Amino acid sequence: MSVLHLLTLSLLISVSGAKFSGRPGVNYGQLGNNLPSPSDSVSLIKSLNAKSVKLYDANPSILAALNATDIVVSVMVPNELIVNITKSKTLSDDWIKSNVLPFYPSTKIRYLLVGNEILSSPDSELKSALVPAMRKIQRSLKTLGVKKVKVGTTLAVDVLNSSYPPSSGEFRSDISGSVMKPMLQFLNRTKSFLFVDVYPFCAWAQDPAHINLDYAIFESTNVTVVDPVTNLTYHNLFDQMIDAFVFAMKRLGYPDLRIWVAETGWPNNGDYDQIGANIYNAATYNRNVVKKLAAEPPVGSPARPGKVLPSFIFALYNENQKTGPGTERHFGLLHPNGSQVYEIELSGKTTEYKESLPAPENNEVYKGKIWCVVAKGANWTQLGDALSYACSQGNNTCDPIKPGGSCHKPDLMVFHASYAFSSYWASFRKVGGTCYFNGLATQTIKDPGYGRCEFPSVTL
Ligand SMILES: *[C@@H]1O[C@H](CO)[C@@H](O)[C@H](O)[C@H]1NC(C)=O
Ligand SMILES: *[C@@H]1O[C@H](CO)[C@@H](O)[C@H](O)[C@H]1NC(C)=O
Ligand SMILES: *[C@@H]1O[C@H](CO)[C@@H](O)[C@H](O)[C@H]1NC(C)=O
Ligand SMILES: *[C@@H]1O[C@H](CO)[C@@H](O)[C@H](O)[C@H]1NC(C)=O
Ligand SMILES: *[C@@H]1O[C@H](CO)[C@@H](O)[C@H](O)[C@H]1NC(C)=O
Ligand SMILES: *[C@@H]1O[C@H](CO)[C@@H](O)[C@H](O)[C@H]1NC(C)=O
Ligand SMILES: *[C@@H]1O[C@H](CO)[C@@H](O)[C@H](O)[C@H]1NC(C)=O
Ligand SMILES: *[C@@H]1O[C@H](CO)[C@@H](O)[C@H](O)[C@H]1NC(C)=O
Ligand SMILES: *[C@@H]1O[C@H](CO)[C@@H](O)[C@H](O)[C@H]1NC(C)=O
Repeated sequence: MSVLHLLTLSLLISVSGAKFSGRPGVNYGQLGNNLPSPSDSVSLIKSLNAKSVKLYDANPSILAALNATDIVVSVMVPNELIVNITKSKTLSDDWIKSNVLPFYPSTKIRYLLVGNEILSSPDSELKSALVPAMRKIQRSLKTLGVKKVKVGTTLAVDVLNSSYPPSSGEFRSDISGSVMKPMLQFLNRTKSFLFVDVYPFCAWAQDPAHINLDYAIFESTNVTVVDPVTNLTYHNLFDQMIDAFVFAMKRLGYPDLRIWVAETGWPNNGDYDQIGANIYNAATYNRNVVKKLAAEPPVGSPARPGKVLPSFIFALYNENQKTGPGTERHFGLLHPNGSQVYEIELSGKTTEYKESLPAPENNEVYKGKIWCVVAKGANWTQLGDALSYACSQGNNTCDPIKPGGSCHKPDLMVFHASYAFSSYWASFRKVGGTCYFNGLATQTIKDPGYGRCEFPSVTL
């Protein structure tokens, strides 16, 4: 063996020998217009006892605020750049030069995720660019002498075609051979991780009639699921979801590739059409998952007992500019003013919290009428456009607010907009229409027609 080989070998050993802990870090999303500064955020991250943080970009102010701290950092190459990076070594090198090198190594950047949930995208060019982009980025890091950074990418559970029972775990056939096989080979060769986003909340909320809520929030004492193929016994939904990935990897010939939970969490609030999103469940889930993941010695999962499962909790803040259902804007451990939504810390050392939690009010499907109306504080300039949009999607949803219509009076923009939002939502909810309108709309269970005229409503 040449000296050079010996050198690389010893480097490899020191890198792979690096200790990583099961103590969860936190996802620092920035989709809010009211969030604390990067330096205040770093203090808040420390106050949560988080030792690692994951960013959805490589924000220079945040990386600077993390300089000379002992917080381990994961940065992300934005989805938009992936196709171009695949085509250009220069672009890949340049991205590392301008986003990583100015801060490395005094900011402890250790993980570089190439894109976020790319394989959930319908864009097939993007999907096939993913693994080549990961290889390019890895090569650039090597060329530029960045030795301590591992490359990965995050996957949502929809990369699995089958996940129940866990032993049936299998990647979707459109990506299994073409993307997952080469990806697993890359991750295994570089001793990286399969980074997965795991939300028992979503699995439970899609089928609350058949999944026990306590099983989803780690509170069940008597509910177990036995996998009929492996005979492994599951005591919570989280383990079940993790093991589905374990078996899917095993199927492709990578039984030992490590898993990193890139996101997990539970929403503390949401809309009337979303069940189980409340402080009680969020606090219970997050406290329990932290206790499990931070445990010493590590607990692992039934298919991998005793194995460390590193993780990031989603998320640091409630982010008011996230689109989609209301739950999306309420995954935070902290309010935007920095106060905790409920008592929580991430070291795993707190075994009991003294705080008494508000009783959960929405663990069952809300059966009454729900309307979609103008939100408090909505920007009136934008309201006009949103009203026009809501009224122009078809099915004459706004006829009643036209002059002479049953809901024309009072002739006020806010009244008409609330009607338009409710009517649009009632018509198009089943085909994916949401009550959001860029944050201008909100759900209510108070009749917005005040008995004057009837607003279309949604019932679940
Ligand atoms: C990071 O902190 C170190 C030590 O305090 C300092 O020498 C260095 O200039 C800082 N780097 C950046 C990019 O701020
Ligand atoms: C990708 O490259 C094309 C062609 O050079 C360019 O037009 C486009 O703006 C690039 N996309 C991004 C997101 O940089
Ligand atoms: C999922 O698996 C089933 C059974 O193996 C297969 O028939 C189907 O084509 C797969 N679908 C996808 C999207 O991978
Ligand atoms: C994965 O990596 C391990 C450790 O480096 C190696 O022993 C194993 O052969 C690799 N698996 C495959 C399928 O390449
Ligand atoms: C588990 O125990 C709870 C409380 O005693 C009970 O309500 C529930 O029906 C039990 N579930 C099962 C599956 O036995
Ligand atoms: C599971 O249990 C059944 C019944 O005890 C047994 O026949 C089977 O061999 C077991 N399977 C495994 C994989 O251990
Ligand atoms: C922070 O914001 C939350 C939610 O709006 C509020 O309940 C709480 O009182 C605020 N705390 C402080 C210290 O302002
Ligand atoms: C309202 O929206 C308009 C158009 O987007 C924008 O120019 C204006 O600054 C907004 N006003 C406030 C108070 O946010
Ligand atoms: C729109 O109206 C048509 C005809 O009445 C109906 O078939 C369709 O389902 C409606 N679409 C929605 C989204 O309500």
